[in-house]
Amino acid sequence: LRAIEDAAPAARHADRPIGVYVELDLGMHRVGVPRVDDAIALARAVCERPPLEFEGIAFYPGHVREPVDAQGAKLEQLQGSLRDALDQFERAGLRPRAVSGGSTPTLWRTHELQGVTEFRPGTYVYNDRTTAAIGACQWDDCALTVLATVVSTAVPGQAVVDAGSKALGREPMRGGGTDAADGFGCVLGHPEVVVKSMSEEHGVLDLSPSSWRPSVGEIVRIIPNHVCIVVHLNDAIVVVRGDEVETTWPVAARGRGYVVPGVSAP
Ligand SMILES: Cc1ncc(COP(=O)(O)O)c(C=O)c1O
Repeated sequence: LRAIEDAAPAARHADRPIGVYVELDLGMHRVGVPRVDDAIALARAVCERPPLEFEGIAFYPGHVREPVDAQGAKLEQLQGSLRDALDQFERAGLRPRAVSGGSTPTLWRTHELQGVTEFRPGTYVYNDRTTAAIGACQWDDCALTVLATVVSTAVPGQAVVDAGSKALGREPMRGGGTDAADGFGCVLGHPEVVVKSMSEEHGVLDLSPSSWRPSVGEIVRIIPNHVCIVVHLNDAIVVVRGDEVETTWPVAARGRGYVVPGVSAP
């Protein structure tokens, strides 16, 4: 309600309408109101404060991270909660123009949810190891890898690369498993070889499940567990087609996006 009360004078001041989504918690328990009558009260508060406009309902099914063909039970539950919410909105005389939900893990199944009019996958832009592990993409669909060089094979059964937590993030596998043995990424072309441990600048590849033995100096590409973190850890993305570098993209959303007066460049 506070956000609505703050946005209304700003919209009036700018003489511009602002479309407002009311977020429902449909199982993730992060943000969004869990009670539909609270969501209806928020939507009414929006309608009472033109030029704010009630745009619709949003939810994020971030709790659905099972393999794609095992999501049925959770999606059914989600459908039940969504249907109930939409019925209650209808009875309250509020018609959402948009019902926004969806994620990369549910990418192939969101259309099964009746009532959803838009969905918001994000990770799918690059995909990652978690996405491949649950079958929401193939290894070949993983478009972002971290280029690393093997710097040591001194310890039998492992190879050390020059990419550690500063390059890969320390992200666990999400959904598919959260075991430390799952590692922090895997090698493109050798998905059985995982980064089993890391320090800041070093990643240790566990070669035990593989007959592949890289040499010092060999360049490998690591598919990170969670690509979103990796993008923001790097200043630029080098875009390649085959073996050719096509261009470089600066990462505009690097860091946390605020300017510290006297410290950051505006
Ligand atoms: C609210 C919201 N919508 C959409 C997304 C995109 O989800 P995904 O990266 O799983 O596709 C996220 C990701 O964190 C999110 O927080």
